[in-house]
Amino acid sequence: MRNPIWRITVFILALLPPLYWLYQAWIFALGPDPGKALVDRLGQGGLILLLLTLAMTPLQKLTRWGGWIQVRRQLGLWCFAYICLHLCAYGVFILGLDWAQLGVELRKRPYIIVGALGFLCLLPLALTSNKYSMRRLGANWKKLHRLIYVILGFGLLHMLWVVRSDFERWALYASLGLLLLIVRVPPIAKQLPVLRTRLASR
Ligand code: HEM
Repeated sequence: MRNPIWRITVFILALLPPLYWLYQAWIFALGPDPGKALVDRLGQGGLILLLLTLAMTPLQKLTRWGGWIQVRRQLGLWCFAYICLHLCAYGVFILGLDWAQLGVELRKRPYIIVGALGFLCLLPLALTSNKYSMRRLGANWKKLHRLIYVILGFGLLHMLWVVRSDFERWALYASLGLLLLIVRVPPIAKQLPVLRTRLASR
């Protein structure tokens, strides 16, 4: 394994927030509605990890450091783990495991349908993020993984629906997402190594 310390550091950094939130829940420091606070924090964490996953390729092009790519898959899987926990927290703390309530909930909170679509797109990416699937799917693997842009769209729409009064935070994530999409447009992506050389020669 190359750069084990870097990989382990990223692993620990991604693991710490949920552990900290659990600790906060334990000492009653999550506010008046700890269940909702956990759902929100995990959802937000999942979106941040999705943005970080998308940032790895442009960062590699900009810096030529392979370490970014070495942790890209790990970050994608962390995003999936956070969203799974987000779903579980929703089921336990908001639904109270009363699945019969789901129909009522979907009418009351239609943004859940958008979140569920995002989750359904995340599933095949998580399931095929191993070397065996990469080899089996060949060129289709890359095509399938373009779903990440769709997930970003669903995630942002879902969040916008939830945090209508906190538009600034949403706008920050949306702008970062847009920037990460723009730097992938081929003519712009080609300019990243040029930009790097220019910055290095200053
Ligand atoms: C079946 C799938 C999903 C369900 C049931 C679900 C459920 C929820 C619920 C109930 C809330 C709001 C809680 C509240 O404040 O009242 C929420 C917020 C949120 N969710 Fe999801 N979600 C799902 C998928 C996703 C996905 C795929 C993403 C991102 C990739 C995501 C990201 C977020 C974010 C960013 C928030 C706002 C957190 C905040 O207030 O800061 N969710 N979700």
